[in-house]
Amino acid sequence: MKIPLLDLKAQYAGIREEVMQAVSEVLESQICILGPKVEELENKVASLSDCKYAVGMSSGTDALLAALMALNIGEGDEVVTTPFTFFATAGCVARVGALPVFVDIEPKTFNIDPAKIEAAITPKTKAIIPVHLFGQMCDMDPIMEIADRHGIPVIEDGAQAISATYKGRKAGSMGAVGCFSFFPSKNLGGAGDGGMCVTNDAGLHERLLLMRSHGSKPKYYHKTVGGNFRLDPLQAAVLLVKLPHLDAWSAARRRNAALYDELFAGSPVVTPYIGPDCESIFNQYSIRVQHRDAVRKALTEATVGTEIYYPVPMHLQECFAGKCRVVGSLENSEKAANEVLALPIYPELMVEQIAYVAAVVKEAVQQPA
Ligand SMILES: Cc1ncc(COP(=O)(O)O)c(C=O)c1O
Repeated sequence: MKIPLLDLKAQYAGIREEVMQAVSEVLESQICILGPKVEELENKVASLSDCKYAVGMSSGTDALLAALMALNIGEGDEVVTTPFTFFATAGCVARVGALPVFVDIEPKTFNIDPAKIEAAITPKTKAIIPVHLFGQMCDMDPIMEIADRHGIPVIEDGAQAISATYKGRKAGSMGAVGCFSFFPSKNLGGAGDGGMCVTNDAGLHERLLLMRSHGSKPKYYHKTVGGNFRLDPLQAAVLLVKLPHLDAWSAARRRNAALYDELFAGSPVVTPYIGPDCESIFNQYSIRVQHRDAVRKALTEATVGTEIYYPVPMHLQECFAGKCRVVGSLENSEKAANEVLALPIYPELMVEQIAYVAAVVKEAVQQPA
């Protein structure tokens, strides 16, 4: 049974006609930059995220970059974040000239450990970036308490967690800005790159709009230096077709996760832990296993797609050598990097496919290394 990590063709099969129609509408209109499709998506994602404003961006990376720029973060500043994330989180901090400061994760959720943040704060700290990894929001109350006490803005990296909740609050609605990615593998993925910032702050909304279009207002008058971070209306059109399906797709991922959990019960496989305050959208289902590489090899041989998110924590990346600050031990992040393995979790997976993947994993974990 060949099972890819993600089967986007299966998703596309159900929405092909609508996508074609929506793309054709944009092409017929020849509104090729921003315009009504981007605005409609912004309004819908803002409302989905319980936020007043949204600004469509060219990628999740550019959403983070624009957020940092909008907050005036740059040379000499520090930003506290997690080392166990996709590169973009820390990469954007470095790109604006600030220093990434890494604190460890909670081993159960893989998310930044709020108890480690305070020790990392200095007068230079200008933002905290919690990353809602794999679809589950961070423990936001203590993070917001520390941030508010120090007057430091929080940028939520919600790239993997659109519409996830923490105590009923939506991803992106708790910090100063939330950043989403529409990379095709996300729960809401475009037909290419795309992203969005959400905020409840009118001033920040204005700044994000400025950053998205070279800091110009009016056109050709530049108040500040921004970039070209505009979301493509063709992507917005595709995303508008997919958006009404998002809840059902995320629910299907949760159902698949529950089935894996059941199948792995009593085995040495450590299944994802979802806190009682959280509803995850399961962008990934990452198990932890000893001898991870052997288990992955067994799955590859059984034609099951897997991925390691992420094999090298940020503080150990070559580009950050001498260019980041580490606070305390990051052993939980390093251990996670050696043990995590993402299994197929996409909504269209069938029960027999999940049973097959679980059987291969269970067999592999029994083998001596
Ligand atoms: C946690 C995290 N942050 C940022 C990004 C960057 O998003 P994009 O790939 O859309 O630039 C991603 C996506 O891959 C991500 O997973």
